[in-house]
Amino acid sequence: VSQARTRPEPKPGILGITPYKPGKSQVEGVPHPVKLSSNENILGFSEHARAAYAAAVDRMNLYPDGRADALRHAVADYFRIEPERLVFGDGTDEVLHLLNQVFLEPGDNIVMGQYGFGAYSIGARACQGEVRMAAEPDYRLTPAEILKQVDERTRLVFITQPGNPTGTFMTGEELRDLHAALPPDVVLCIDGAYAEFADDPRFDDGLDLARGAQNVVVTHTFSKI
Ligand SMILES: Cc1ncc(COP(=O)(O)O)c(C=O)c1O
Repeated sequence: VSQARTRPEPKPGILGITPYKPGKSQVEGVPHPVKLSSNENILGFSEHARAAYAAAVDRMNLYPDGRADALRHAVADYFRIEPERLVFGDGTDEVLHLLNQVFLEPGDNIVMGQYGFGAYSIGARACQGEVRMAAEPDYRLTPAEILKQVDERTRLVFITQPGNPTGTFMTGEELRDLHAALPPDVVLCIDGAYAEFADDPRFDDGLDLARGAQNVVVTHTFSKI
């Protein structure tokens, strides 16, 4: 007989989550340190963003457009993708959490690189999922290392493309090979938070793959570029 609980207890998995550890904002003896780990813009933000934000203050008594129609059409045009294929979130983090919530049942797993972004694993653990880490020898993720971790309970594979802070990426060919080797019911999520910064001609943001596949999600964010 299990002991009666004396207080509410989170479901399994929650207490095993290691809290996200942000970089240092203060350094003793340095009056205005510049924190690089969050990639915030130290030059301030654009005058256009300031004006849009100020204009929005006058409409704060109303719910915003939950479908984000104006943004949806602008982003759809920019990426040449059907508007209905887009999902908007409160940062990439929310979209990553939604992916885990939608696809993971307790005991399922996600596969990510050992230097991948912490939010993938936090969201998976909150869904009682297992987190399987693919080795990144020389700080590089490869299809072979990812596929070693994939089994019949794998529902999601998260790739950071390019990696943060490794700066490495998989080539388009590697992405296509990985996708071809994954079972069709596994979601391949290609996190492009830093895609706009990758100027190597071999870089591939995965959007072409996503355009022609039902199991590829590409994320982008306004918070870096
Ligand atoms: C690889 C990666 N993906 C996603 C994010 C989160 O971005 P957002 O600000 O859109 O939640 C970060 C933030 O540092 C990141 O490094």
